[in-house]
Amino acid sequence: MTQSTRDGFTSSFGVLLATLGSAVGLGNIWKFPSLTGSNGGAGFLLVYLLATLLVGLPLMMVETMLGRAARANAVTVFDRVTQQKGWKIIGWMGFCAALLITAFYSEVAGWVYAYIFKAATGSIATTDPKVAQEVFGKLVSDPISSLVWQWVVLGLTGSIIMMGVSKGIEAVARKLMPLLFILLVILCIRSLTLPGAMAGLEFLFKPDLSKITPAVILTALGLAFFKLSLGMGTMMTYGSYFREDQNIPATTTRVMFADLSVSLLAGMAIFPAVFAFGFAPAAGPSLVFMTIPAVFTSMPGGVIFMTTFFVLTAVASVGAILSLLEVPVAILSERYSMGRKKAAALTVLAILLMGIPAALSQSTMADVKLFGMNAFDLFDFLSSNILLPVGGILICLFVGWVYGLPQLQKQLSNDGALKNTALIKIVFFLVRFIAPLSIAIILLHGLKVI
Ligand code: TRP
Repeated sequence: MTQSTRDGFTSSFGVLLATLGSAVGLGNIWKFPSLTGSNGGAGFLLVYLLATLLVGLPLMMVETMLGRAARANAVTVFDRVTQQKGWKIIGWMGFCAALLITAFYSEVAGWVYAYIFKAATGSIATTDPKVAQEVFGKLVSDPISSLVWQWVVLGLTGSIIMMGVSKGIEAVARKLMPLLFILLVILCIRSLTLPGAMAGLEFLFKPDLSKITPAVILTALGLAFFKLSLGMGTMMTYGSYFREDQNIPATTTRVMFADLSVSLLAGMAIFPAVFAFGFAPAAGPSLVFMTIPAVFTSMPGGVIFMTTFFVLTAVASVGAILSLLEVPVAILSERYSMGRKKAAALTVLAILLMGIPAALSQSTMADVKLFGMNAFDLFDFLSSNILLPVGGILICLFVGWVYGLPQLQKQLSNDGALKNTALIKIVFFLVRFIAPLSIAIILLHGLKVI
């Protein structure tokens, strides 16, 4: 495809929304609270914040920048910005990470879809941890419904992606995000006014440093990547649709803060309720599916609000899944001159197959384990804790040591139009030294290599 006919975002506000649409998703509503709960609370949050600011944000800027500079998919980017051959591996790793992530992410999205109906019929309107656990357990241990909901999610997002970038992604991302935000605020207020809510706030904001182990740090770093869709080419691919005059540092910073506020709101909606109702903070993936209904149940109009909440979360997951699918779809369609529809169909088919073990990991295939993890946990671990950080190191090393400051300066300042030289120097320093070193140390420690 030539550059002039390449599809892209049509307005700079649209860019912001689509990028936000990629970042905000089940990561905020589901992964952030589950991981914060099972890794000890405030200490985890602290490490996550540091990782987001010192590693995530600068990486997000340079990853987006590479995409826009080369105007290509995550593999072809490296054909265009360097003569050196090997860097393309980053794009191919991203290809694999996208499939792995979507294989389990679409399963969680499927649970959300299922919960829309459970909310509407009142079958999850309970504040009793036992009942809530039972309902969730029944859903995930049923192989047929696990598979069918996942297929619904993939069918829906696959069809949206076939319609193209600006029409598909932008249209979906544009709507409904503000509503989710408002609903989270309401949820927060209710949760914080429950008797015993303070214990939840303490859990979330009063760090106990003894709980910060190397494995916890690696998980927090992985979450920082996962949250901002980094390290596997999503931001490169989206960056390739950015406008020439888009202010990349400003846009990415806004997205980072907006994304963080959604996560914190979700945390403040969930943890006070966890302690007020006697749920276990370390419940893991089921945490959100039990506590959120409990908070809604304890307020007037709960059923309507609860249903709306799961609808909006489903919508948020769509924006994120689209950005995941876009990576392999762009690679296949641009490198193998395949039509967009065919590329999308192939991608979805691959994920359908890989998704089966993830969907069945709590039923038929619960005993199939590798490194002590079922398929669902393994896909999550391999992508968030290994592929994304390794991709992140490579992108940082590439920009810091091959691409270089003058080019970065030119790109991030839009050829001198933006007066942000000092900021770019800081970003360069972070991606050249701090980010790759700290990711490498965290990775090796977290995996007990050193
Ligand atoms: N950031 C999204 C979320 O938090 C998930 C996501 C979308 C993602 N695209 C990604 C994660 C690319 C890693 C890489 O829900």
